[in-house]
Amino acid sequence: MEPLIQLKNIRVKFPVKRGFASMIAGQEKKVVHAVNGINLEIGKSEIMALVGESGSGKTTLGKVITVLHPKDAVAGEIVFLGESLWDEKGKLKSGYHQEVCMIFQDPYQSLNPKHKIEKIVSEPLVVNKISKSKAVLRVRVIQALEDAGLVPAVDFLDRYPHELSGGQRQRVVVASALVMSPKLIVADEPVSMLDVSIRSEILKLLLKLRDEKGISCLFITHDISLAWAISDKIGVMYLGTMLEYGDTESVIQNPQNPYTRALIDIMPKMRVRKNEKRMLLKGETPNPIELPEGCVFHPRCPLAMACCKATKPPSRDVGNGHINVCHLLE
Ligand SMILES: Nc1ncnc2c1ncn2[C@@H]1O[C@H](COP(=O)(O)OP(=O)(O)OP(=O)(O)O)[C@@H](O)[C@H]1O
Ligand SMILES: [Mg+2]
Repeated sequence: MEPLIQLKNIRVKFPVKRGFASMIAGQEKKVVHAVNGINLEIGKSEIMALVGESGSGKTTLGKVITVLHPKDAVAGEIVFLGESLWDEKGKLKSGYHQEVCMIFQDPYQSLNPKHKIEKIVSEPLVVNKISKSKAVLRVRVIQALEDAGLVPAVDFLDRYPHELSGGQRQRVVVASALVMSPKLIVADEPVSMLDVSIRSEILKLLLKLRDEKGISCLFITHDISLAWAISDKIGVMYLGTMLEYGDTESVIQNPQNPYTRALIDIMPKMRVRKNEKRMLLKGETPNPIELPEGCVFHPRCPLAMACCKATKPPSRDVGNGHINVCHLLE
């Protein structure tokens, strides 16, 4: 598949704000290693899911793609449609903010309650100086609302967010992204606040946008069963590292990494590994300020061996680009 975007060795570090006490005690400045050397590729018309527990760096990576972090926090290379995202002078490729949009989790907070839907959805066009003409804006807003499944669109233009259901609000959020005609939508936990009955509607909408408009999506979720339902490809993140990566069916039906197996095993409805012993993890994701030596996952891995504590595991292709980063099977 032709790549839309490629991330090469992406690293994100944030300084930890120090309290007065630690400053006068002369303690060293600390950093959070939120993302540590991630490589990934999203194809045209492809949905990639990023899964992992809280704090694994999913949102941070989503914000790297949408260029929402301060530049000095991010290292590595991003290639969009075959070209580097920044020129030699460090200037961002023009028009990039129109090609890539981010949708957040909470449709209640992401819509301004004082504005009508027409104003909310047209705002990205105004901010990006695409048009000032009321007529042009209205045509694009109506098209975006219809593409997001809010029909007839004219019935929604004059409403306020509180006059909509949760599912409809999330569709308005999607419409605000679609109005820019993006090539990639980064959707950060877009259905986790929604009722189960309307979750599948929003998932179907993302699939429809992929199939009918060729829009790619990075779908961020902590729920591997949702990732399975919607994605073409899955990346499994742990403490800022990608532990497993590949086509969704291959990763779910034939998970290689103990962490991926554990994520699958806690999902009651995913019975793909029913003949095997369940993999249960101890403890919680450690603090990304002091990363474990060797494999980042070893302190919680039920199968950890001596080498896992000492050396970083290799990245191995187990077939068709299905990558596993683990010392097992060496
Ligand atoms: N602006 C920031 N400054 C300092 N630390 C940050 C910042 N943003 C994120 N972090 C830290 O980076 C790590 C990764 O955070 P991130 O939000 O990417 O995780 P996540 O996988 O999206 O988690 P969740 O599932 O809870 O949303 C966390 O330890 C977090 O505290
Ligand atoms: Mg997050």
